[in-house]
Amino acid sequence: MAPEPVNVNEFKELARQALPKMYFDYYAGGAEDENTLRENIEAYQRIRLRPRVLVDVSRIDMSTTVLGYKISAPIMIAPTAYHQLAHPEGEVATARAAASCDTIMVLSYMSNCAVEEVASSCNAVRFYQLYVNKRRDVSAQLVQRAERNGFKAIVWTVDAPRLGRREADIRNKMVAPQLKNFEGLMSAEVHTLRGDDGSKLEAFARKTFDDSLCWEDLKWLRSITNLPILIKGVLTHEDARKAVEAGVHGIVVSNHGARQLDHTPATISVLEEVVQAVGGKVPVIVDGGIRRGTDVFKALALGAQAVLIGRPVIYGLAAMGQRGVKSVVEMLKNELELTMALSGCPTLEHITRSHAKMASEPVN
Ligand code: FNR
Repeated sequence: MAPEPVNVNEFKELARQALPKMYFDYYAGGAEDENTLRENIEAYQRIRLRPRVLVDVSRIDMSTTVLGYKISAPIMIAPTAYHQLAHPEGEVATARAAASCDTIMVLSYMSNCAVEEVASSCNAVRFYQLYVNKRRDVSAQLVQRAERNGFKAIVWTVDAPRLGRREADIRNKMVAPQLKNFEGLMSAEVHTLRGDDGSKLEAFARKTFDDSLCWEDLKWLRSITNLPILIKGVLTHEDARKAVEAGVHGIVVSNHGARQLDHTPATISVLEEVVQAVGGKVPVIVDGGIRRGTDVFKALALGAQAVLIGRPVIYGLAAMGQRGVKSVVEMLKNELELTMALSGCPTLEHITRSHAKMASEPVN
């Protein structure tokens, strides 16, 4: 029997062993030369910590709120597609694990399990991620089903008018699995997918994602739901300002786990620019390359309210189902707790910009 992993990175190898190559490559891969994929990880490693000593850290409180919902630590589950390719229980297992860790899961628009199934599997706080379909009625129905089923916010992903060029999927001729949410809604589109060559996912996205979306469309989204809207995929201060002016309730700094446009910066290196532009008006969340509690701490020091975890959650699911997802989140929580203790930060409010030093900053 393989030894129990002692850190989140070790789940990746277990997932590789558990999964068919096509699915592992789909989860692990990034766009084109995967420059941003590497950079998302390496940029964290260039940031140094500046711990403070002789602070009472006998009690550490990691709890926080996101949009008013209390969570045990600022570590949430990112929306990622197709959890049943990793484990037969799919998103239901992930949602139960999130609930048991007292955190929020963002359910992907491309989930295998239906929103109703996920909603009835546990009574934790959940957000719903949206891609806007060329057929707006399909997206509107999904958003309204999520709202009816108790999801608390919409995470509007805006960095995918088309899918990025993921060459592993092209090579493997990645299939597009059936999605329960779309049964009866979109069968014609799915059945007419061409694609003996290349990635069927790419074909699916090209056929169904609305690539004409623009800022104006936030009005449409607001007209179909009363839920708060977070915008996911912002990488510049220009767009952060626009998003706040347009009235979003939160911003997710994300490059989609480096799966869309290669050569975008690591998210951690643009976080501060976004935080400054937003000026505290709405919460800023970040994802991409977070694999350690120290990474979470660095993101918080640079102004994030919370982080989202993508691939490690899927690797945990592939390796051990619900227990694996819980283990991934708990490991990151434990590491964050230790980092806070060793940095002199008994609460999240104690974590400030002075606790992190970017490679470009002078030694003071
Ligand atoms: C994603 N991501 C994503 N984002 C989204 O808004 N909707 C989606 O359906 C998906 N699907 C998806 C599938 C897979 C396999 C991956 C790896 C990622 C992006 C995701 O929400 C998040 O931004 C990144 O995964 C964060 O980076 P890390 O933690 O994977 O490095």
